[in-house]
Amino acid sequence: MNRRKFLFGAAGVGLASALILKPSDRGVPYSHYFKELNNELIANGPYRPSLLIDLDRLDRNINRLLLDMDKQLSYRVVAKSLPSPGLLDYTMKESGTNKLMVFHQPFLNHIAERFPGTDMLMGKPMPVKSAALFYQKFSNTSGFDPSRQLQWLIDSRQRLNQYQELARQLNVKMRFNVEIDVGLHRGGLQNPAELVLLLDQILADPEHLEFAGLMGYDPHVVKLPKIIKSAETAYAESQSTYQGFLDLLKNSYPHISPKSLCLNGAGSPTVALHKSNTVINDMSAGSCLVKPTDFDLPTLQDFSPAAYIATPVLKKYEFTAIPSIESFKGLISWWDPNTQQSFFIYGGKWMASYESPQGLRDSGLYGSSTNQQMVNGSKSIDLNVDDYIFLRPDQSEFVFLQFGDILAVRGGKIIDQWPILNQ
Ligand SMILES: Cc1ncc(COP(=O)(O)O)c(C=O)c1O
Repeated sequence: MNRRKFLFGAAGVGLASALILKPSDRGVPYSHYFKELNNELIANGPYRPSLLIDLDRLDRNINRLLLDMDKQLSYRVVAKSLPSPGLLDYTMKESGTNKLMVFHQPFLNHIAERFPGTDMLMGKPMPVKSAALFYQKFSNTSGFDPSRQLQWLIDSRQRLNQYQELARQLNVKMRFNVEIDVGLHRGGLQNPAELVLLLDQILADPEHLEFAGLMGYDPHVVKLPKIIKSAETAYAESQSTYQGFLDLLKNSYPHISPKSLCLNGAGSPTVALHKSNTVINDMSAGSCLVKPTDFDLPTLQDFSPAAYIATPVLKKYEFTAIPSIESFKGLISWWDPNTQQSFFIYGGKWMASYESPQGLRDSGLYGSSTNQQMVNGSKSIDLNVDDYIFLRPDQSEFVFLQFGDILAVRGGKIIDQWPILNQ
């Protein structure tokens, strides 16, 4: 082969592979659901980034959760995952529970005032100073009684000592739930023998301390790569670890009835596995009710996304112009049809994925902004200035707090606005 032929051949192969790699048009207009939501927001929306909860879908998710839940289990709403008093109130009423799991001292104080009838379990061991702050800020005018309705979470002897000192100083009685490690390795007691020291200390000071139960959180069960361990095996192991602690209680403290204890476990990823024959009697979950993208798990396939970020389009262009390489805009949109249009949206850079219209994405060339993000899409996307684009949060606990009042939507209409929990 002569040199010329070789060069032509190589160029041909290069062009063919480039054409194979050339991105296809991924743009799809609004579905009926999002078209209706867009119309509603254009008519009645706040024209700023907002967080929407679809109550019809939330209802279905609550029903889904409760439908085949073991009737021996109580359901505890994870407050951090639905961080709005209005949303918590709605969820507690719809699911018929007064139990909450709380992770943040300001939320704890707020909830104790706003929902004095709740039963609260802390979801993480709080620094003792944070517990002290709770008592300092708490006024018992609401009727909430921490000595009966609140379980502090403890994970070590050292923390128990700190809390005991605080209880003595304040002359209050504190109830304790003990964090156990059922395989997640995020802390908690590693083996049942460690429980003896804690329990003996708690039982020796009934004026100030009370043992209320155990908490073993198990999301690792469904997150491990199958090649390492199947969900079934990981679940069976976590249950058997939990059972080891219950056996110790039964053998060494027979006067403590497990029925009188809060034996908490699960979380959205594993609720489906705790349906029957579980060692726990108290199941906490929150995220599955709104299903952010992190919860697109096989165990939650019957749950529907119920939360979206909606934000207006501020500017629209029929090209993507990048500073200093403006003259390449034709080439850029020829190469990738998904850059045929560029939109600047109100806000951006949230922990979220573009949902509708489909095929939108952050501009990889322009850089990102929390003020006016450039979003690209093909000409198949029929989107104009003042229309809304919709994103699905990756998680709820942090993202929900970034938009002010949550918009509650039913039948495609905004029917309520719920303030978020104050920091
Ligand atoms: C102790 C504990 N229990 C339960 C949950 C489950 O919460 P969710 O169902 O919202 O994922 C969490 C989440 O972080 C947790 O830390």
